[in-house]
Amino acid sequence: MKKILITGGAGYIGSHTAVELWKAGMEPIILDDLSNSYASVIDRLEEITGKRFAFYQGDCNKKSLLKSIADKHKIEGVIHFAAFKAVGESTAQPLKYYRNNVGSLMVLLQFMQERGIRDLVFSSSCTVYGQPDVLPVTESTPRKEAESPYGNTKKICEDILIDYVKSKPGIRVISLRYFNPIGAHSSAKIGELPIGTPNNLVPFITQVAAGIREKLTVFGDDYDTVDGSCIRDYIHVMDLADAHVKALAFLNGQENNFYDVFNVGTGNGNTVLEVIHAFEKVSGVKLNYVIGPRRAGDVVKTWADTTKINTVLGWHPHYSLEDCMRDSWNWQKSLR
Ligand code: NAD
Ligand code: WQD
Repeated sequence: MKKILITGGAGYIGSHTAVELWKAGMEPIILDDLSNSYASVIDRLEEITGKRFAFYQGDCNKKSLLKSIADKHKIEGVIHFAAFKAVGESTAQPLKYYRNNVGSLMVLLQFMQERGIRDLVFSSSCTVYGQPDVLPVTESTPRKEAESPYGNTKKICEDILIDYVKSKPGIRVISLRYFNPIGAHSSAKIGELPIGTPNNLVPFITQVAAGIREKLTVFGDDYDTVDGSCIRDYIHVMDLADAHVKALAFLNGQENNFYDVFNVGTGNGNTVLEVIHAFEKVSGVKLNYVIGPRRAGDVVKTWADTTKINTVLGWHPHYSLEDCMRDSWNWQKSLR
C-alpha cells in the first residue's frame, strides 16, 4: 500500500484527508506537532477507518524527524498541510508565520530530494487572489498583493515551488487553492476544532447555536451583493479531502517535472445570510444574530471557477451547502 506522509494530519483538513486516502487504498503516515489539534484525533480516525494510522508528534521543520519517519516507512508522496493559519495573529507575529509556513516547506523539499520522494500536494489558499476584479476566479486570475503575512506565506510557498520544480528533474507538485472549507465527517467523529474564539463564520454559527457564544455579528449588509452580505465559496471538507486523492493520482501519472495550481471550490458563491438560513433550515435552530459594521479588509465577494480541476483532475464536489451545515452542526453537538 502506498504510504503518504501527511504533515498537519491531525488538523481539520488533514484528518479528513487521511480518511479519504485510506478509502482510496493509500496509507497515511501522520506527522503533527499538535500545536492546533489533539492526539485524540488519531483515535477517532481509527474508529472511522478501523485502522490505527502511524502517528508522529513533532515539528515538520526538523529534518532529522522527517528522516527517521522515512527510515521506518517507505514514503511515496507528501501532503503538506502543516502551517499556522490565523490571519490576525500573523500580522502581530509575522516571523512566527514565515518561519513555520515558509521554513517548513523548504525543509520538506530538501528532505524529499534527499530521499527521492517525487510527489507533493501543497495547501494553498484563495487568499492569494484577494478581492478579484473579475468573477469567478480562474487559476490565471492575477494574484493580489497579500493582505496579511499569512496570505503572503502562501504566495511565497507557491513561488518557491515553481522555482524548485523547474530545477529538479522528476519532481511533481500540485498546489491546491482552497476556497472556504466547512463541514465535518458524517460520523461526527472528526471536524474543525477552533481553539478559543473562532475566526471563521461556520464554527461561530454552530457555537452560537450551541449556546457557547451569545450571538453572531454579520459583518456588514450594505455590500453590492444580493442581500448586502459578503459572498464566499464554501466547500465541504470531505470534497476537499477527495481533491487531494485526485491530485496524488494525477501526479503519479506525470512522467517529467510537473507543477500546477488548482482551485478547489464548488463554483458557487453564497452570502453570509444564505449560510445562516441554510443552517437554520437543517438544524431547526433560530440563530441569534445581529447585523454589525463591515470587517476591515474583508473580501466582498469571491468564488471559484472550477473548470480546471473538473476537467484535468476529474474532481467534482458532491456536498451541498445544507449538507455542510448538517455535518457542521452534528459535529458541534458531538462536542457537548
Ligand atoms: P489546522 O490548524 O486544523 O491544521 C494544521 C495542522 O498542522 C494542525 O494540526 C497543527 O497542529 C499542525 N502543525 C502546524 N505547524 C506544524 C509543524 N511545524 N509541524 C507539525 N505540525 C504542525 O488547519 P487546517 O484548516 O486543517 O489547514 C490546513 C492547511 O490548509 C494549512 O496550510 C492552511 O493554511 C491551509 N488552508 C486552510 C484553510 C481553512 O480555511 N481552513 C483555507 C485555505 C488554506
Ligand atoms: C466568511 C464570511 C465574513 C465571521 C478566511 C481566511 C483566509 C482563507 C479563507 C485560509 C465573511 C463573514 C465571519 C463572523 C461574519 N483561509 N463573517 N461574522 O473571510 O473567507 O477568510 O478563510 O487560507 O485567509 O481569512 O472566512 O470564515 O472569516 O468569513 O459575518 O463572525 O463570514 O465577513 O464574509 P474568509 P471567514
